[in-house]
Amino acid sequence: MDCISRVTEDLLFLGVNDRKLSLFESAYPVPRGISYNSYLLRDEKKVLFDTVDAAFWEPFYENLEAALAGDALDVIVVHHMEPDHSACLIRLLERYPEAELVATQKTVQMISNFFSVTPKNVHVVKEGDTMSVGKHSIRFLMAPMVHWPEVMMSYLPDLGVLFSADAFGTFGALGGSIFADESAFARDYLDEARRYYFNIVGKYGVQVQSVLKKAAGLKISCLCPLHGPVWRKDIGWFLDKYDFWSRYLPEERGVVVFYASVYGHTQNAAEILARRLAEQAIPVKIYDVSHTHVSILLAEAFRYSHLVFCAATYNNGIFVSMENFLADLRAHFMQKRKYALVECGSWAPQAGGLMEKELAAMKDMEKLGETVTVLSSVREESRAALGKLIDAIAGEFLGNE
Ligand code: FEO
Repeated sequence: MDCISRVTEDLLFLGVNDRKLSLFESAYPVPRGISYNSYLLRDEKKVLFDTVDAAFWEPFYENLEAALAGDALDVIVVHHMEPDHSACLIRLLERYPEAELVATQKTVQMISNFFSVTPKNVHVVKEGDTMSVGKHSIRFLMAPMVHWPEVMMSYLPDLGVLFSADAFGTFGALGGSIFADESAFARDYLDEARRYYFNIVGKYGVQVQSVLKKAAGLKISCLCPLHGPVWRKDIGWFLDKYDFWSRYLPEERGVVVFYASVYGHTQNAAEILARRLAEQAIPVKIYDVSHTHVSILLAEAFRYSHLVFCAATYNNGIFVSMENFLADLRAHFMQKRKYALVECGSWAPQAGGLMEKELAAMKDMEKLGETVTVLSSVREESRAALGKLIDAIAGEFLGNE
């Protein structure tokens, strides 16, 4: 049985929820699932905006047939060719061979690459092109690298609807309602929206800023992303989050202590540091990078202003979980943070210097205090050095630096 919802009088939601997937993109845990959104505009022409993951062809097709209610599908708009949105495209074209496919030139090329076919009825669009489909028109806005190079968005000027592709999406399946204002979004989705943003499109802050500039010139009454809830209220609040995130600014002042410990001594230093900061009412969190998924670590690092990295030395290098985390931070353009370092080792500690080299390669990163060296275990000498580092970090928050 179909399961469709009405977004506006003429716009229907055909999306599906995936609560079985363990790793999105084979990389990111999605314990609360994810939605694949698709929309149908019913006008003189019936216009489909995107499809869903291949695993959901059947419920999607059932939704589409119900939404068409016996009418022909006239237009298929493809905003993004990543298979979570386009894998059903080939079956769709087989079912509706007369439908006009609207996409960028890059998308058309990708269709050939993915499916080894050249679609026949193609309408290639570029920035600012418009298309009338009856009483409504569609304006096309290019959004390259948000999150692939072929990405575009569509805007319905008379309804103020923006189809934003991957932008403004979130991890987390829909909880019944399709609308953000019918959930406690800040409580139930924001952490997952942040994790989605920084892991999926966070590398492309410049391109997101470009999209936000375009969005600023539009009257947006409804924001329809390809994942997560549809926005029809408080859209500015979510746009502001994206503005902040895409400028790589910390969302909150606070300290996150990340540690990679082999036998617990690095952890001991991290715990002492976190405890002494917390005693001074400084917001602090602590993560074992060997146990918390790196996608969560990444989102938390971008969320806060001050980062402390504590790592054991291993194979003459940085303990592998911290080494991987730092590489991920660098790949996602971590920048504009203050950081401090603690290293541990039993005969030749060198994780500190190596971590500093990694962090120095990132933009606008400022080191606080001296690297604390823990030789095998925290003892008086390293405890004193740790005390100085704690004072240096605390000074940032207590105004006595
Ligand atoms: Fe949801 Fe970039 O695909």
